[in-house]
Amino acid sequence: MIKTRLFTLVTDAKKYIIANVILQWFSMMANVVMVYAIAWILRYCTGGSQEALSKLPYLFGIALVTVIIRIVCTKYAATTSFYASKSVKKELRGAIYQKLLRLGSSYRLEVPTAEVVQLAGEGVEQLETYFGSYLPQFFYSLLAPLTLFVVVARLRMKVAVILLICVPLMPMIIVFVQKFAKKLLSKYWGQYAELGDSFLENLQGLNTLKIYQADEARHQAMNKEAEHFRVITMKVLTMQLNSIIIMDIVAYGGAALGIALALLELWNGRLDFTGCFIIILLSAEFFLPMRKLGSYFHVAMNGMAASDKIFHLLDLPEPEGRTASIGEGDGIVLRDVHFSYQEGTEVLHGVNLQFVKGSFTSIVGVSGCGKSTIANLLTHRNTGYSGSITINGTELSDIKDSELAGHITYISYNSHLFKGTVRENLLMAKPDAEDKELWSVIEKVRLKDFLTKEHGLDTFILENAANLSGGQKQRLALARALLHDSPVYIFDEATSNIDVESENNIMALVHELSMTKTVILISHRLANVVKSDWIYVLDQGTVVQQGTHDALLGETKENGIYKALWDEQEALYRLGGMA
Ligand SMILES: Nc1ncnc2c1ncn2[C@@H]1O[C@H](COP(=O)(O)OP(=O)(O)OP(=O)(O)O)[C@@H](O)[C@H]1O
Ligand SMILES: [Mg+2]
Repeated sequence: MIKTRLFTLVTDAKKYIIANVILQWFSMMANVVMVYAIAWILRYCTGGSQEALSKLPYLFGIALVTVIIRIVCTKYAATTSFYASKSVKKELRGAIYQKLLRLGSSYRLEVPTAEVVQLAGEGVEQLETYFGSYLPQFFYSLLAPLTLFVVVARLRMKVAVILLICVPLMPMIIVFVQKFAKKLLSKYWGQYAELGDSFLENLQGLNTLKIYQADEARHQAMNKEAEHFRVITMKVLTMQLNSIIIMDIVAYGGAALGIALALLELWNGRLDFTGCFIIILLSAEFFLPMRKLGSYFHVAMNGMAASDKIFHLLDLPEPEGRTASIGEGDGIVLRDVHFSYQEGTEVLHGVNLQFVKGSFTSIVGVSGCGKSTIANLLTHRNTGYSGSITINGTELSDIKDSELAGHITYISYNSHLFKGTVRENLLMAKPDAEDKELWSVIEKVRLKDFLTKEHGLDTFILENAANLSGGQKQRLALARALLHDSPVYIFDEATSNIDVESENNIMALVHELSMTKTVILISHRLANVVKSDWIYVLDQGTVVQQGTHDALLGETKENGIYKALWDEQEALYRLGGMA
């Protein structure tokens, strides 16, 4: 009924939960006093003596005060409930955020970004009822029947004992329902997430779906998924309603039993009218806190199911000991590096590479051979390699994330541009750069004409850079990278969307950069790598050839795929030229 691990999150919320329980208890005690006051008012009214009637105003006064106490307690209990859940939500979101920072950019290998967003938003929100209502109610519903037992026992022990015995029936039902509900809710959450995923994916890919006229089929598939979700939602609701009905039977049945017993005792003369009246009014109070706990329980279960996923995220193993800095040295060395995304399917099989400081090195190979995997290893986006990767002599897995970010700039074909102005996007790489410097890199990547026609550095970029062409996006990303003054640059198909003429211009820039920096170039187009100091040819996760362009071309077709790739591209180029 209580998830002990969730308790570890309530350091700050504890005081609010305790305050909530105390306020509810005070409210209940005020109710007891009010019931006593009413009972005595009835007794004095029917007694009729002058002395008795003179006490009535005091009793009315007491009843009024108890009503005020109840109102105040209820109001502040709601406030404490709000603060309890607020502080837990804040702590939990903080914990998720810190965890992501510690996981670093490799978190995507373990958990999809969409799920992280869903957990940090909706998932945490689901715990609101758990901490704000369920947990305080849990303690209050233990305390309330015991207190009432003492009150009723003073009037009639037998009735008090029987009522107290009936109370545990309620948590027994809750525990029974929990066993069944847990499976159902985990299924419900699974389908909820799946439906959300497909909806988002279909929405994002709507253009493609329209082009291929595949939207109708997707529509049908989503209808099917939605129908499954409807069915499981109905199952959850049916389960909740049924369990609430059972709890109601127990709660009101128990209260009716108390009332019947009180009347019986009155009939047998073992209880006076006042005592009987008080027991009748208080019997329901025995069960109501547990009944309320039961209805909170269903919402809390949802929160508990979400917390399972949150704890899974918080428990992901973290890269350890990343505290080292990068000193001076002669570059990056990979020795016998093996890497797998999933166990059993190795992607890199004992790769040996060297990127000498200040050199221009290229990695080529057919699609899927592992080029980007290497780039992602060097930028900590892939972790968990075996073998050794050193940057200026320091092992990569020991290097601090921030240190690595300052040392290596990674530019890919889809580097992210943020919604905002061109200036804001560029200043990310060098916050203190002046406009002159920004224009200089813009000119280098040949965006000057376009931006001058727009609003210059204040040109606004929409989400996902939707108002830029593919080539413009890549140029701007490149301009930002050029501003970021780091010793190493990795270009991973960074010019794939750019026309050949502009690509040649940008490649000239890359060559210029390689005069002062270490440049690693990953490119499909072999014409781009001709001037490299060294070229590695990768095939299915293994380095199969290496050398300068001229040396590699010298190798025959039988012993090298570089020449084969070169000839193939040359033929295509000539064909393109003829056409
Ligand atoms: N996140 C991932 N999870 C599982 N497998 C992956 C992942 N990323 C890549 N792979 C697999 O690893 C292999 C190497 O992929 P990689 O992206 O390094 O290729 P690449 O050489 O960069 O190809 P391309 O030239 O098409 O960009 C491929 O077989 C690919 O299917
Ligand atoms: Mg790639």
